[in-house]
Amino acid sequence: MGTDTRSPNAVIHDATFSKVSVDHVADPHPRLDALRTRSSMARDEALGEYVVTGYEACRRVLQDARLLRDRKRASPGSAASRTYDAPPDDVPERKNGAGVFIFMDGEDHRRLRRLIGDPLLARVRTGRPLVEKVVRRTLSALPTSGAFDLVDDYAIPIPVGVISTLLGLPEKDHERVRAWSDELVLGFNPFRTKEEDARRWKAVRSMLDYFGARVEAARKQKTEDLISDWVALEEQGAGLSEREIIDHCVMMLTAGNLSTTDLIANAARAVLEDPALQARVREDPNVLSEVIEESLRVDPPVTTTDRIAPGEMSVGGCPMHGGDVMVTSLLAANHDSGVYEQPHVFKIDRPARQHLAFGAGARICLGAPLARLEASVALRELFAQRPDLTLVGDVSLRPVYGHHGPKSLRVVG
Ligand code: HEM
Repeated sequence: MGTDTRSPNAVIHDATFSKVSVDHVADPHPRLDALRTRSSMARDEALGEYVVTGYEACRRVLQDARLLRDRKRASPGSAASRTYDAPPDDVPERKNGAGVFIFMDGEDHRRLRRLIGDPLLARVRTGRPLVEKVVRRTLSALPTSGAFDLVDDYAIPIPVGVISTLLGLPEKDHERVRAWSDELVLGFNPFRTKEEDARRWKAVRSMLDYFGARVEAARKQKTEDLISDWVALEEQGAGLSEREIIDHCVMMLTAGNLSTTDLIANAARAVLEDPALQARVREDPNVLSEVIEESLRVDPPVTTTDRIAPGEMSVGGCPMHGGDVMVTSLLAANHDSGVYEQPHVFKIDRPARQHLAFGAGARICLGAPLARLEASVALRELFAQRPDLTLVGDVSLRPVYGHHGPKSLRVVG
């Protein structure tokens, strides 16, 4: 792609982008397309941030190693600064908490991404049997007659079950973990209410106690799971603290659950809405890997991520001040007609071109291999066991800020 010649720094007076994100309009594309055509980097006054919508412009921002993620560096009033909140007084342990590398920069980010991430990726590489076990258990609990909800009964329990099992949590605790994980999602919304914040902190407090006890247990006896892997690293003096282990247990439940649920549900929906595609999947389940990639492109479960300017600088020809936030619309980037022909059409045979659903650069999603594995097993088993699955009723989107997936998918078969 050549240099972007569209004018940077247009001001969106009608808060177009915030409306798309917050109200989850059923079809955001006419607005996003108009925005992309107007400007590669536009100021959204309602968000207090710059919105980046073009594919190349997004990629450039995501790969720019000068830019930051630490919410405390975001200018006051920006949506990013609102997603950071100081812990309330009754969560004293969190005050001295380590934080999570998703929102760290520089050496701390690199160190924790490696120490937390390497054991995760190693377990994912050999994790197919574990994922299959969770998927089959979930599948066997589905009703065999009448309608059921593919989101609530299938796409939600699988990621919670998999990450809980990887962490080594007993099965009897998975339901509790799912309830906490639902409350953590409230933190994604910069426009959340005080009441929602209180609920979220209550869940965080319970999780800190719970994972503190799990770390203690792993100290006494190592088992084949992630918490034991991290405790072993801490005990070897690898540079990982107990606080960091506990905080990252909480992060594991925030970062990947809803997004993987949305991937499974979005991809299942794409197949169920297209009889020809469903027939192809039945004939050759291997096409599901292309279905998953195209679903990630057309319906990225995480619609935005962001970067913060550390000081005066120019990004994509747009002057930035320290604290300015650039929110990249992964949804808009993946629908850029300059990169994808007929971008709004779901086509599994299109030439491979890397979508931005997992971000890009040094911060690309750590859990991408796990999400792909879960979606692949979940869809393969589902369509093998339930070849006559049919959608019934309308589909509406779940109103969670920055996320993109159906609230429910009623099916029979
Ligand atoms: C379909 C499912 C998923 C999607 C769409 C998704 C998407 C993303 C995106 C867009 C980012 C931001 C990248 C950037 O800013 O450049 C991200 C980061 C991250 N994701 Fe995921 N994610 C998914 C599943 C998971 C899972 C299952 C886990 C872990 C169990 C996970 C862990 C992380 C972590 C730790 C980061 C931060 C990486 C860093 O800052 O270095 N994600 N993800």
